[in-house]
Amino acid sequence: MTRIMASNSKSIAQAAEVLKLGGLVGMPTETVYGLAANACDGKAVAKIFEAKGRPSFNPLIVHVNDVDDVLALAEMNAFEHALAQKFWPGPLTMILKRRNDCPLSELVSAGLPTVAVRIPSHKTARQLIAASGVPIAAPSANKSGSLSPTAPAHVAQSLGDAVDFILADGVCSVGLESTVIDCSGNVPVILRPGGITAEDVSEALGMTIGYDFGDHGNDVKSPGQLLKHYAPNIPVRLNAVDLEEGEALLSFGSIKFMGIKGAGAASDLPDDSLRHLSKEGDLYEAAANLFSMLRALDSPKNKAIAVMNIPETGIGVAINDRLRRAARG
Ligand code: TXA
Ligand code: MG
Repeated sequence: MTRIMASNSKSIAQAAEVLKLGGLVGMPTETVYGLAANACDGKAVAKIFEAKGRPSFNPLIVHVNDVDDVLALAEMNAFEHALAQKFWPGPLTMILKRRNDCPLSELVSAGLPTVAVRIPSHKTARQLIAASGVPIAAPSANKSGSLSPTAPAHVAQSLGDAVDFILADGVCSVGLESTVIDCSGNVPVILRPGGITAEDVSEALGMTIGYDFGDHGNDVKSPGQLLKHYAPNIPVRLNAVDLEEGEALLSFGSIKFMGIKGAGAASDLPDDSLRHLSKEGDLYEAAANLFSMLRALDSPKNKAIAVMNIPETGIGVAINDRLRRAARG
């Protein structure tokens, strides 16, 4: 049976024990809930892949508390130090070269010579990392291919008994997964848009940083790019300007002028068919709400989820990336 405990010093100590014994813990972070295991324990890491149904070619993110801990695992170049200074702790993941004496399980890297590392800012995550005394491997705590969890109940729903212990600490403030960046080339490139925007990174490095979503065929830098992530069970339709009958609406900004074809106004939709990402058009609020609202509308009562247009700027790029994957799935 999974134990779900509110986060406090006692439950954090218990969760750390579970990690030390090779178990799996649902861990809150500022981005999404993670499925945590001791990253140096190959058997524990294997349990993550099994619990998620995750393809073994898709490597995991390792979480530690400070740059010295990172340097015990991997090498960092000048770009990476600059980004660490600016954005850690926080929702940025860097793909780093593993040290020759790297103590992490090979499975964490799925056999690659690199490892994805992040220093989270969430207080409970940091306390759990400190209490366990080991680097923590943690992908999002959901079945592979489904929506990432932004609340403790989502973790229990998605993984059931496969997770030993859930540290419950409310909803995640960012609500989207971390930005993944690769700084191994002459110009760093963002492999997954997320909580830190390309504008943020460009400003920090004094150069224009773009994206590589791996959608150009052969040369995929991040295995996760291959996957149709974040798919609800019902279809998702993007850039909706009106609604078909039976569709639910995920709105952004005002819905005053939005109609249902032949059947009235969107504002009259029943509560279980309508969610507002942000009435004021605030992209950060929309990001924080995205996964939980997609979940709420993902019901057989609705024929599909129609989503209004989200501007492709700032964190809107990350929101649209997740929505396009949801629509493809
Ligand atoms: O916000 C987040 O990043 C959350 C929280 C729990 O920290 N974690 C998360 O992990 O989203 P996950 O496993 O769902 O996504 C990790 C992404 C995948 O797309 C994976 O392919 C990529 O990072 N990745 C991991 N290691 C890599 C590596 N060595 N090289 C390239 N991509 C890597
Ligand atoms: Mg994930």
